[in-house]
Amino acid sequence: MSRTVIRGGLVITAADETHADVLIEDGRVVAVAAAGSDYAQGWTATETIDATGKYVIPGGVDAHTHMDFPFGGTFSSDTFETGTRAAAWGGTTTLVDFAVQTRGHALREGLDQWHAKADAQCAIDYGFHMILSDVNEHTLKEMDLLVEEGITSFKLFMAYPGVMYSDDGQILRAMQRTADNGALTMMHAENGIAIDVLVEQALAAGRSDPRYHGEVRKVVLEAEATHRAIQLARVAGAPLYVVHVSADEAVAELAAARDKDLPVFGETCPQYLFLSTDNLAEPDFGGAKYVCSTPLRPREHQEVLWRGLRTNDLQVVSTDHCPFCFVGQKELGRGDFSKIPNGMPGVEHRMDLLHQAVLDGHISRRRWIELAAAAPARMFGLYPKKGTIAPGSDADIVLYDPTAEHTLSVDTHHMNVDYSAYEGKRITGQVETVLSRGETVLRRREFTGRAGHGQYTPRGVCQYL
Ligand code: URP
Ligand code: ZN
Ligand code: ZN
Ligand code: ZN
Repeated sequence: MSRTVIRGGLVITAADETHADVLIEDGRVVAVAAAGSDYAQGWTATETIDATGKYVIPGGVDAHTHMDFPFGGTFSSDTFETGTRAAAWGGTTTLVDFAVQTRGHALREGLDQWHAKADAQCAIDYGFHMILSDVNEHTLKEMDLLVEEGITSFKLFMAYPGVMYSDDGQILRAMQRTADNGALTMMHAENGIAIDVLVEQALAAGRSDPRYHGEVRKVVLEAEATHRAIQLARVAGAPLYVVHVSADEAVAELAAARDKDLPVFGETCPQYLFLSTDNLAEPDFGGAKYVCSTPLRPREHQEVLWRGLRTNDLQVVSTDHCPFCFVGQKELGRGDFSKIPNGMPGVEHRMDLLHQAVLDGHISRRRWIELAAAAPARMFGLYPKKGTIAPGSDADIVLYDPTAEHTLSVDTHHMNVDYSAYEGKRITGQVETVLSRGETVLRRREFTGRAGHGQYTPRGVCQYL
């Protein structure tokens, strides 16, 4: 039996901040007790970790990543091996990635493909959501089987006509199914049919620069789709989780629905909180590095997103990590912004950026842990195995140094991508040591993990309701 004690740190969960010692046995937390108490002093251990001056926090749960993801004729540049290693460096110990149904094929085939990509490759634990690209009778039946296997959330797209797009009828049918089987519908809420018209018109008028990606994917088309998704979920009697919310008017739709007591939830991502259309306008095709959908918005949207995160109109911050190299991948869209693969790298930086937001006064320390670990774990049926530090929880624990200073850069990050979206950004606070189910995967900023340590983690139904 292995026994580890973490002594002397400030243990922060979504609920509490206490100076406490943590006892771990065989990969699980078995006790949390006042630091230096007689009880904690009595623990014997094979390893003692000194956390004096450090925060002891639950490992991050990133509920939105795309490793090795097909988009626009290429694949996102992180594999499950490189992407989960980078996540571990950044203090994230669980990912929920998206398996993809290809049009004309079964959910099972997509799920098998994603297991083949991920199994035995991951440094940290992982689960899957399933993207529905073809809602038909067979798909609807298969959804029930997947729920029984721990795939308890399905992403639908109101964007990307001809690829992953579903029409309102397909969306309603899928939502009705989730009302029966307990799953959560995740929505990419943008009116893709209208956007495609604007794309065509922009290109015809010679507007091919990356900044037009932001202009055609209008705020009102995100808000309209968010509104429509909420109404469809209402008709189906199903809960709804809107992914990558970027616009003030979309937050307003979520807030209005929640004020009516509807089970409607929203996620935003660090890129919408820290970056803006200024980045999309960077010269020499530099804006391509920031092309993602929903798109980056003018700076004034950021304050609305922060407020939504404080008031719980938004519940989760995940990364939508979907990296494409500038050279050879983003460059596919030179001369035509619509051919730039959509997505940005970020899985490594979420915990740090949100800690910086604590220091900048946007959120409290406990809200940091809530948004990055506890809420996503509850939302996607992983709590309290993941997302907290309590007896019975997996020992997924981060020692975080709140005073260490560092600079985000492509030269020092561990993601497999040739640029940083946050190049030069100064951060106070840094991940020092990371435990995944009690095993040290990062020890004082030296990677000690391995591909294959991470286990597939079936999930229960949404616990946020
Ligand atoms: O631009 C993005 N977000 N790429 C990943 C796919 C998606 O829509 O989440
Ligand atoms: Zn097939
Ligand atoms: Zn999306
Ligand atoms: Zn995504």
